[in-house]
Amino acid sequence: MEFGTSFGVSTLHLVAALRDNGGGLLISTEFEPVKVAQARANLTAAGLDDLVEIRAGDALEILAPDLPEAMDLVPLDGAKNLYPRVLSLLEPRLRPGSLVLADNADWSPDYLARVRDAAGGYLSVSLAEDVELTMRL
Ligand SMILES: C[S@@+](CC[C@H](N)C(=O)[O-])C[C@H]1O[C@@H](n2cnc3c(N)ncnc32)[C@H](O)[C@@H]1O
Repeated sequence: MEFGTSFGVSTLHLVAALRDNGGGLLISTEFEPVKVAQARANLTAAGLDDLVEIRAGDALEILAPDLPEAMDLVPLDGAKNLYPRVLSLLEPRLRPGSLVLADNADWSPDYLARVRDAAGGYLSVSLAEDVELTMRL
């Protein structure tokens, strides 16, 4: 489940990895219609469109009514101030061992405080200056 598709560059890499590892489904979210159209075209041109669903609209609204049963990997790269709310939305479907990868996490101090809280149900490490890798316990 990816938050923030843009033109689909990260999505292309994620979906190619799914294909290389035997399949699966990536759901990605983007609210700018021009970007949604270009991302879909890029994924079709790469022959990867059968493993991805791009949902158009505000992730907080379009994800809630139709969440998958469980998620393995959640790359966060949309609006940074929304990271805590997106995490709250997805949290019930994060199975133990699933990973959340937050880009520019230093722009969301509330998010960092939450995933680094020892009582919060996560194990979290900083991978680089601004990338936070978090595992659901
Ligand atoms: C940094 S870009 C994503 C880049 C992409 N992950 C990549 O590496 O190719 C962030 C994108 O998130 C989108 N976005 C921001 N807030 C959003 C929201 N609430 N719902 C859906 N998309 C959102 C923006 O329109 C923007 O295209």
